[in-house]
Amino acid sequence: MKKVSIIGLGYVGLPLALAIERSGKYDVVGFDINNKQVSKILSKECPITDTQAEKDLKELSLHATKDKEELKNTDIFIICVPTPVLDDYTPDYTPVIKAAETISKYLKKGATVVLESTVNPGTCEEILVPILEKGSKLVAGKDFNVAMCPERINPGDTKWNVYNIPRNIGSLIREKTKEIADFYRSFLDAEINEVSTVKVAESTKIVENAFRDINIAYVNELAKSFDAMGIDLIETLQGASNKPFSFMAHWPSRGVGGHCIAVDPYYLIKRAQESGFDHRFLKMAREVNNSMPEYTVSRLQEGLNEIEKSVKGSKIALLGLSYKSNVADLRESPSLEILDILKEMGAKVISYDPYIPDMSDVKSLEEVLDNVDGIILGTYHDKFGDLTEEILKRKNIKVVVDGVNKLGKDEIGNKKVIYRGIGR
Ligand SMILES: NC(=O)c1ccc[n+]([C@@H]2O[C@H](COP(=O)([O-])OP(=O)(O)OC[C@H]3O[C@@H](n4cnc5c(N)ncnc54)[C@H](O)[C@@H]3O)[C@@H](O)[C@H]2O)c1
Repeated sequence: MKKVSIIGLGYVGLPLALAIERSGKYDVVGFDINNKQVSKILSKECPITDTQAEKDLKELSLHATKDKEELKNTDIFIICVPTPVLDDYTPDYTPVIKAAETISKYLKKGATVVLESTVNPGTCEEILVPILEKGSKLVAGKDFNVAMCPERINPGDTKWNVYNIPRNIGSLIREKTKEIADFYRSFLDAEINEVSTVKVAESTKIVENAFRDINIAYVNELAKSFDAMGIDLIETLQGASNKPFSFMAHWPSRGVGGHCIAVDPYYLIKRAQESGFDHRFLKMAREVNNSMPEYTVSRLQEGLNEIEKSVKGSKIALLGLSYKSNVADLRESPSLEILDILKEMGAKVISYDPYIPDMSDVKSLEEVLDNVDGIILGTYHDKFGDLTEEILKRKNIKVVVDGVNKLGKDEIGNKKVIYRGIGR
């Protein structure tokens, strides 16, 4: 039985390790440097918001460890560590470098190292390979193979999960790409597309995420101009969407968050810059999307001014802290930036997120709406289903800023409640 070791058991690595374990075809080792993460997994307590992983973890016996020695004799290593950015928005490869250093000590002839983390084109050959070769004294492309198979998991998605999301894969030894693709085919139900080079595989992921960032930036910019013109952008986009070809709706909001879309474009910007190309369009998209938390607060400011109040001194409820619906993930969340801006402006902020009790000031929707001058909906969770016209009236809320355009504008925005969305 081949031994497969997954390095990094977070949103990407854990569902993957469980999928491989479920196949029953491999000896699986899940390795993570975070003791808490490992202990939780061993006690079958899912450390991530992922219903499929929760179910798999309960049903299976995944072996998780922080003991590097257990990586010995691995046939296939799969790296799923974070790829964040530094304060100056340049890529931080530290986790990838550290993971490669660990693997290099246990790398044997004939093994394959797969990278699933989102990286720049060139990372496998320019960063991973030299570290692996140095530590193992083996030669990449001859003694061992290196492949790139970017993960596309979408936490909270009930339709698309690790089992059915199609993949692209490229490897250093071209003749062996099919072998590693077949490994993925042996435990996934998804299409595994073999591409000709590692660089193409690396590029697919970064291009997908940059595409999304640019499209969201376009509608976020439209939101600002349509608000200025007093035209409902949401209705406009719904209308534009019935074009059966060449239009794909994206929706404006209080900004872009998460470990992927808000981060990956910086990787491409930096890599292209090193090759002498300036990605002006991508940089502008990042700038527009980064400006949205401030814009969201300016919508609150307008609403409060209408009732002769200012942000300074007002009591504001901030609902939803995570970066997306129905998950507990705070990475790059625009809500956190909204929170900072409100505090800087002198508002008294009460925040509430049912998924993040540690950072919530109160324990319920009823409580967070008590005696506030206005609310900002930073992220909508299904658990906010009670956030209706009735409760807003009962709590005498005067200003509602819907940062994700989720609430019924017509029901909520009446004479008694001032409603401001993003683009409506
Ligand atoms: N979260 C997503 O939705 C998503 C989707 C597709 C791709 N990705 C990409 O996948 C990668 C991983 O993201 P994630 O969301 O799973 O991150 P995560 O933070 O949820 O998990 C990463 C795990 O790696 C561990 N780790 C860090 N350094 C390590 C090391 N040297 N050795 C062993 N373990 C180590 C951490 O302790 C953590 O448990 C990133 O490149 C990300 O861009 C993420």
